Amino acid sequence: MPTILITGGHSGIGLECSKQLIAKPRVTLLLAGRDLDRMEVAAQQLRAKGGEVKLLEMDVSSLTSVRTAAARCRTMLDSGEIEELQAVLCNAGAQFMGPVSYSPDGYEMTFATNCLGHFLLIELLIDKVAQKGRVVYTASGTHDPDTADGKVVGKAAEPDALVLIDVGKGGDKPLSTGVRYTTSKLCDILYVHEMDKRLRRANSSIVPIAFDPGSVAGTGLLRTHPKPVQVLAKTSLMKWVMRRMGITMSSVEFSGAALAKLAVDPAYATGSGKYFQAKDDRFTEQRSSIKSYDVAAALKLWTDSEALVHLRPDERSALLSAG
Ligand SMILES: NC(=O)c1ccc[n+]([C@@H]2O[C@H](COP(=O)([O-])OP(=O)(O)OC[C@H]3O[C@@H](n4cnc5c(N)ncnc54)[C@H](OP(=O)(O)O)[C@@H]3O)[C@@H](O)[C@H]2O)c1
Repeated sequence: MPTILITGGHSGIGLECSKQLIAKPRVTLLLAGRDLDRMEVAAQQLRAKGGEVKLLEMDVSSLTSVRTAAARCRTMLDSGEIEELQAVLCNAGAQFMGPVSYSPDGYEMTFATNCLGHFLLIELLIDKVAQKGRVVYTASGTHDPDTADGKVVGKAAEPDALVLIDVGKGGDKPLSTGVRYTTSKLCDILYVHEMDKRLRRANSSIVPIAFDPGSVAGTGLLRTHPKPVQVLAKTSLMKWVMRRMGITMSSVEFSGAALAKLAVDPAYATGSGKYFQAKDDRFTEQRSSIKSYDVAAALKLWTDSEALVHLRPDERSALLSAG
């Protein structure tokens, strides 16, 4: 059975995606995350639908944890416990309210969680992704400062990894929670564009894709926000207001199903380097922000990220080396 690895596949948009995928014939789901108890609850729910579900412990904000998880995944593949990776879905993500916090590696938490962890995971597993397999990043329409989504959450800053890891350390006013989030999602799209370029140069048929699920209420994304904000976000009044403001709206079911399509549907086999958006029950390819097509910024982000995750020569895949 081909395997689909999904981070954050036990909750929110990821869980809805997992439900869609497990209903397909011959799929093994590898749920990757840091909370094995919560993941097991979701796994039992998914197994009840008849599919095979395995767990992979991984805190995506910790480089050590990502390396351990990637090594475990390789062992599972080499031993035949799971079959080759049909898709890797980089879906875990978070917003961090309150004082700026840092990962075990000393990097600002939003950038560590939403960017560097998945960057390292893909570097370590890309050679185990099947030909014509997919790498999908759950980004966000909020990355685009020219849209209502981007303006409301906070206009994305420069996607400079060397600055973003140290946000809040210099004594200056740190970037807001919203700006750190939207900038991290801009970086995810830049990774997809740079990855597409590198894979094409290496004559690989692996397909990297960026995904905007739209604004989806009721997931765990706002969990660090004040309770009233979390409650308000789920009300129909708030949804009405957001729609009037021009925010890209979707439902958890629709966006989860859209992510599942990007993972396996032949219709997206030619989606390499592209950006797809879920909006009001429509799922279409869109242009991402102007900055997301800045090739120099993408290359710098990539090479800086390689240094920040301390990528060793023996970890470097030829598939992603052609910068
Ligand atoms: N909801 C929206 O409106 C919206 C809009 C645009 C984009 N997105 C993106 O969609 C993706 C899914 O979010 P969601 O809305 O479904 O929220 P969610 O329910 O909170 O899901 C986020 C997932 O990420 C996991 N995660 C967070 N930090 C992690 C870490 N350090 N290590 C491993 N896993 C970690 C969480 O696991 P735990 O259970 O361990 O916390 C959770 O499973 C995110 O990338 C988010 O940025 C969401």
